Amino acid sequence: MTALEAVSDRPAAAGQATRDEALARDVVEGLTRSPKRLAAKYLYDALGSHLFEAICELPWYPITRGERALLTRERDAILARLDDPATLVELGGGNGEKLAILTAGLAAQDRAATVHLIDISETALARAGRTLARHSSIAVRGHRGSYADGLRAAVAELQPGRSAMVLFLGSNIGNLAPSEADRFLADVGAALRPGDSLLLGTDLVKPEQELMLAYDDPLGVTAAFNRNLLVRLNRELDADFEIEQFAHRVVWNAQESRVESYLVSQAEQTVCLPGADHCIRFAEGETIWTESSHKYRPDDVVDMAARAGFAYGAQWIEPAAAFALTLFDAP
Ligand code: AVI
Repeated sequence: MTALEAVSDRPAAAGQATRDEALARDVVEGLTRSPKRLAAKYLYDALGSHLFEAICELPWYPITRGERALLTRERDAILARLDDPATLVELGGGNGEKLAILTAGLAAQDRAATVHLIDISETALARAGRTLARHSSIAVRGHRGSYADGLRAAVAELQPGRSAMVLFLGSNIGNLAPSEADRFLADVGAALRPGDSLLLGTDLVKPEQELMLAYDDPLGVTAAFNRNLLVRLNRELDADFEIEQFAHRVVWNAQESRVESYLVSQAEQTVCLPGADHCIRFAEGETIWTESSHKYRPDDVVDMAARAGFAYGAQWIEPAAAFALTLFDAP
């Protein structure tokens, strides 16, 4: 599996009837490890995706606000880098509202564009398509599938001699381990052509107290997002997790520059997952590591992309949210 594929299968269909072999296999592999872990991509079933959209609106979660502000403020500088007609390719853009900031700018400048949306979720593609279809000069192409397959399909449709800009926003790259992020960027670079570009959104290192509030908010939405993973396993693998027996906990790991999210067993207990043919024992206080959210210094972002052969183009920072958008030229 390439890194492009590793981050791409969210969100899964809710309430799917057939046993999801990959989910069962991954869950057994993760819960029989020590320490236990579950892959973050499984946080995004239908409810998880809604909870994530709610997180994006929380006053304590700066990523979405900061990125929206930057896209709005730097819109013309970004649009100036696009060909005419323009081609934009967004990897996993959710509801399409950030891309809509750019397409509204193109429409206001009377410029035509084709936008390629790549997402595993049919629902997300349909929503984003509706959001972006407001302007008749913007053609929308949806590619349902993994980032790797979608990017291949989109690139195959690009006009020779006309460059494209790929967008990977929301600090989604931060959910990858550094080695996975390196591979992901190398895969994107290999799929692109000289003259194409990459716009990368990354959350920056900020005071620990702010990070704790962003990932353990006073309304408990992020806790619900994390604990919903167990609700999903109860539904899809017929598991018997008692949700209230697992608490949400976040830790700032300064050395690795990441917020780590955990579910902590509140008692010694055994949980059975018939859909995965396993029962798992938990000690009191034992953790399941569910997500890492890496935070970067501005130069880290440039260095990370440079390792994949991307050349620095420009970087814009929103200081209030400590968030960066960085533009690169493809290798
Ligand atoms: C999607 N991703 C960048 C989010 C993040 O900040 O790591 C997911 C998230 N997890 C908890 N809150 C938001």
